Amino acid sequence: MIMVLHSRVFAVFVSVFVWLLLGCSLSYATPDDIDCLKSIKDSLEDPFNYLYSWNFNNNTEGFICRFTGVECWHPDENRVLNIRLSDMGLKGEFPQGIIKCKSMTGLDLSSNKFYGSIPSNISKLLPYVTSLDLSFNNFSGHISASLANCSFINILKLDNNKLTGQIPAELVLLNRMKTFSVSDNLLTGPIPSFLASSSVDNFANNLGLCGKPLDPCRSTSKGAKTEVIAGAAVGGVTFAAICVGIGMFIYFRKLSVLRKKDDDPEGNKWAKSLKGAKGIKVSMFEKSVSKMRLNDLLKATNSFSKNNIIGLGRTGTMYKGVLEDGTSLMVKRLQDSQHSDKEFASEMAILGKVKHRNLVPLLGFCMAKKERLLVYKYMANGTLNDNLHLVDETKKAMEWSLRLKIGIGAAKGFAWLHHNCNPRIIHRNISSNCILLDADFEPKISNFGLARLMNPIDTHLSTFVNGEFGDLGYVAPEYMRTLVATPKGDVYSFGIVLLELVTGERPNYVAKAPESFRGNLVEWITQLSNDGKLQDAIDPSLVGKGIDNELFQVLKVACNCVFPPPKERPTMFEVYQLLRAIGGRYNFTSEDEILMPSDTGDADYIEELIVAREVNETW
Ligand SMILES: *[C@@H]1O[C@H](CO)[C@@H](O)[C@H](O)[C@H]1NC(C)=O
Ligand SMILES: *[C@@H]1O[C@H](CO)[C@@H](O)[C@H](O)[C@H]1NC(C)=O
Ligand SMILES: *[C@@H]1O[C@H](CO)[C@@H](O)[C@H](O)[C@H]1NC(C)=O
Ligand SMILES: *[C@@H]1O[C@H](CO)[C@@H](O)[C@H](O)[C@H]1NC(C)=O
Repeated sequence: MIMVLHSRVFAVFVSVFVWLLLGCSLSYATPDDIDCLKSIKDSLEDPFNYLYSWNFNNNTEGFICRFTGVECWHPDENRVLNIRLSDMGLKGEFPQGIIKCKSMTGLDLSSNKFYGSIPSNISKLLPYVTSLDLSFNNFSGHISASLANCSFINILKLDNNKLTGQIPAELVLLNRMKTFSVSDNLLTGPIPSFLASSSVDNFANNLGLCGKPLDPCRSTSKGAKTEVIAGAAVGGVTFAAICVGIGMFIYFRKLSVLRKKDDDPEGNKWAKSLKGAKGIKVSMFEKSVSKMRLNDLLKATNSFSKNNIIGLGRTGTMYKGVLEDGTSLMVKRLQDSQHSDKEFASEMAILGKVKHRNLVPLLGFCMAKKERLLVYKYMANGTLNDNLHLVDETKKAMEWSLRLKIGIGAAKGFAWLHHNCNPRIIHRNISSNCILLDADFEPKISNFGLARLMNPIDTHLSTFVNGEFGDLGYVAPEYMRTLVATPKGDVYSFGIVLLELVTGERPNYVAKAPESFRGNLVEWITQLSNDGKLQDAIDPSLVGKGIDNELFQVLKVACNCVFPPPKERPTMFEVYQLLRAIGGRYNFTSEDEILMPSDTGDADYIEELIVAREVNETW
């Protein structure tokens, strides 16, 4: 699995590299995605001319994003995210040219007249697909086992076609799959047992499917219905059916026992397997902190039980632990990393020295077998995300002064990482989930310095595509093109956090937008701004309290942070200075101010600063 993923990432890197070589004179164009759409259009009959908007004469960046049925990663960038061509009367074979839409995650061709077979190499054509809907067409032939290699699939709809043969057992590999339907086809044979718990409707109206959730398979005669049973044979057949039945029963039981074992309900088999190593010392950075062994961490976290999980993220899982003396702490189990013990320890030696009022203190770390555990000080008030978005009748919306305090403090922490920390630390995973709040609601940044410890796959495409952590909305547009993390990428992500603070909305889903609006928070803000209605974006719980001016100023800073061209965004230092000025009357900031960056050798930085100034002066 890891191997497969790695070769994919490698392929992405190679393609980026090739693109850099070929693309220098082509500015930002990604000709592949354009060719992809051209070839799809050419391969289809479009009797009702639904694809009239697919006009390839106007080559402005992002022009394909306005085509009917095409969604891009970013509206100003020719990189296709989804293609939805449902119910357009289109006719043709499965479009092979789709392979050129390299970062596509969703394909909907439902309710058309597609025919021919599902390509046997479909996983090569759509390696990152999460949603594939081919239902209500005229596809025939077998369900390609290659689908088992589309490992990000969540939704697979093949119903209402003319598919024949069996459901490939290999599909069991699709462990993210939530929806699977093959009803109204010509399928036969047993339904693979991992699908036994799905609804009958997903398998109805086939030629001869059997087994759970449908009726048990009665005979081995290739699944054909055996409804006519000659009187003389009744006894024998019944006997055979009972034998098969018992056999199936034992088989399924065995399977379900196996599955249970695999399932590892507490999710902590890994921790239990560390029992032999429980004497291992936890290396602590502060002498004042009492000595600890792995065993203490195991006890404190109830052997890393599922119930102790307080955060899931790209870099790993965070657990709450309580030591015997009652002290709480947080333990992070890092995602698998390819780094050696030595490399890890030297990274830790650096991180252990990184201390600032707005960073979650890293107390120590521990290496046991392949596991890497980081011990942090406990943050009593959880994540900004939960405080901001999990509001209900029992919990009031956050006050503006608290939001502003958190914005300023977090900006200060990030600015310190970018400009005063040596070596400079790019966070890469900024979101409202990585800003934690201590007992006094002082914001503290977590997960800083961990991106470098991750495998490329963990910090790059797969997790975005996966959307598992819902942080796609924080990713700067240029990052998807270059996969290079920059300070300006962090500024973009922080801009989203500021937007969350001012609007109270989430990055990927805007509750307040009209129902027809399908974009993300930035697109919503952009639209409001173009319509001259930016004030409508502000969280209604904050309006009319005499602070509109501050709200609007912070909103402006946020908008500057999410400018598409990185050079037009302010630096983190600028962002901090601006926010501090806006919140001046509250006296939030303490004495340990950030120094004006002194690394004057960094010409880029100076240039950024000047550009940012110019931008800010145009307010
Ligand atoms: C190309 O498209 C852009 C955006 O839709 C538009 O502003 C521009 O005028 C178009 N150019 C031509 C030559 O049609
Ligand atoms: C996929 O298979 C088709 C034929 O079935 C072939 O024409 C095409 O080149 C293959 N593509 C890849 C990427 O292997
Ligand atoms: C589906 O394909 C079959 C041949 O495989 C053809 O006879 C039939 O007309 C097609 N149906 C539609 C709705 O296109
Ligand atoms: C999935 O990919 C692997 C490696 O590329 C290959 O060996 C395997 O045959 C593929 N499986 C299917 C079902 O296509």
